[in-house]
Amino acid sequence: MLPVPGRGVYPFPPALSNRTRTRPTHKALSPHEIRAMSAHLTIALAPGDGIGPEIMNATLDLFKAAGILDRLAFVPVEMGSSVFAKGNTRGMTDEAIRTVEDCGILFKGPMGTPTGGGGKSINVTARKMWNAHSNFRVFKTLPGVHTAYSKAGIHIDMSVVRENIEDTYGGVEHRLSNDMIQCKRLISAPGSDEVHRFAFQTARKLGVKKVHCGHKANIMKMTDGLFLDRFKHIAKDFPEIEAGDVIVDALCMNLVVRPQQYQMIVLPNLQGDIVSDLCAGLVGGLGFAPSANIGNHISIFEAVHGTAPDIAGKGIANPTSLILSGLMMLRHVCMGREAATLENALLTTLESGVHTGDFGDNSTPAVGTQAFVDAIKNNLGNTPKTVPAVEVPSASETCFIRAPKPTGPQVIRTFKNLVTHPVGCDIYLDTALSPLALAEEMQRACVDTPFKLTVISNRGTQVWPTGSVYTECVDYYRVRFELKDGVVPGTFGQSRCVALMDKVAEMFTVCSYELLRTFDGVKGYSLAQGQ
Ligand code: NAI
Repeated sequence: MLPVPGRGVYPFPPALSNRTRTRPTHKALSPHEIRAMSAHLTIALAPGDGIGPEIMNATLDLFKAAGILDRLAFVPVEMGSSVFAKGNTRGMTDEAIRTVEDCGILFKGPMGTPTGGGGKSINVTARKMWNAHSNFRVFKTLPGVHTAYSKAGIHIDMSVVRENIEDTYGGVEHRLSNDMIQCKRLISAPGSDEVHRFAFQTARKLGVKKVHCGHKANIMKMTDGLFLDRFKHIAKDFPEIEAGDVIVDALCMNLVVRPQQYQMIVLPNLQGDIVSDLCAGLVGGLGFAPSANIGNHISIFEAVHGTAPDIAGKGIANPTSLILSGLMMLRHVCMGREAATLENALLTTLESGVHTGDFGDNSTPAVGTQAFVDAIKNNLGNTPKTVPAVEVPSASETCFIRAPKPTGPQVIRTFKNLVTHPVGCDIYLDTALSPLALAEEMQRACVDTPFKLTVISNRGTQVWPTGSVYTECVDYYRVRFELKDGVVPGTFGQSRCVALMDKVAEMFTVCSYELLRTFDGVKGYSLAQGQ
């Protein structure tokens, strides 16, 4: 797909309903709206760690040359390694949090995650805390960036929308026994709805004709199954866009073999993380992949790559990813004219063969970060010859009108008022007994209860009442109790399940417990493999 004139290679038209190009005149303006109309729209700025300050300074230098700093004011905020070093495990000061929340937009460089010491990834914390639910990344063949595909004449133009909040990124992990650790994978219906709706809205704005959902619903029938079901449901609101789905392993192979068959792919968090780096590789690496983390209130624009400690301070980092992320940010606030001018200058520079050391033609000497940006500055006003130029809109006006600030964390819901009945429980035990010995103990435990032991599994594989002698077990079992024949669901509450767990806990270490329920008569739990 060739760039649509005027659309831009790194498009990011405001897609959410809470934002509009025109100012409402029928009601009093909020402080947010007044800020949006002022000469300076403020954006929180965190240069980051490692190469972060080098590429951020270069990007701002370019913005200044393009007159963007006359319209946007950047407010520095303290985030990253210097804050972690002071013992702040969140990696950002309270002042920084307030400023980002006030601005509604954060432009950030890469930030290192401290190893050990309890500090979590600041990047993940920021996306989750501010509910930047959709990670949008664009991957496109660029002139002067030679890859196996560009050499074969294969033109790539696609985007990945990654769910940004849920999945294993909750970091909910526990040690359950000597030998077993778990990470909970959480997928919700409203969380899936937010990312799917964003993907289809963005596809509609950009004229994308087909959106695929990548998933592993053949194995994770409930979690990925929900993500896929919600994709199909939301797709119905966008009948002009073809909706397809593909299992993530097949997707990875297809992307390597025939990447041009995809236009937009929406994925759960972890799969989206992996697939988007694969896509970055198709177009020349992480140095050419911009990223926007879009939320309903706060959005974060950042380079996809990390802090590159091996080249930090040498002045040789490639600023393209951050510049492209900046273009998405400019379009987010309706500065399409400035974004288009910058994009044409960047494309012109790339096609002229100017390159930093991480890409380009080895036979021409690489330039440093500042010289690369100087070349783009010299090309401001020029348009590329070998690829279609981006049409420069005649005028643009900053727009960034936010939904009112919520009074507290909002509960978002998709399904309500389903009729649920407890029908049993799964109890997870730290024990190294044999399955048969464990079954005898568990059958004794449930004698005077409404429940019978139906299955014991180990690492998800059934080991009782039937199983294979070849199945290896570890010191952590799930025992499942379900209603005895003749017991009617709905005739007792969950306290009977808790009482059974209490009884089991007198004999074994109970690591965790899951209530088994039906929802409108449908089982809300999966079967063990082999059950
Ligand atoms: P990395 O992306 O920093 O580096 C990987 C390789 O790519 C290195 O050889 C590096 O020199 C090169 N590279 C990366 N960006 C470049 C650029 N702009 N120009 C030229 N070469 C570039 O990945 P790594 O080494 O795994 O991570 C380093 C640190 O960055 C870690 O602490 C990690 O947690 C953090 N990180 C932060 C991210 C963010 O802030 N969004 C994303 C990824 C990693």
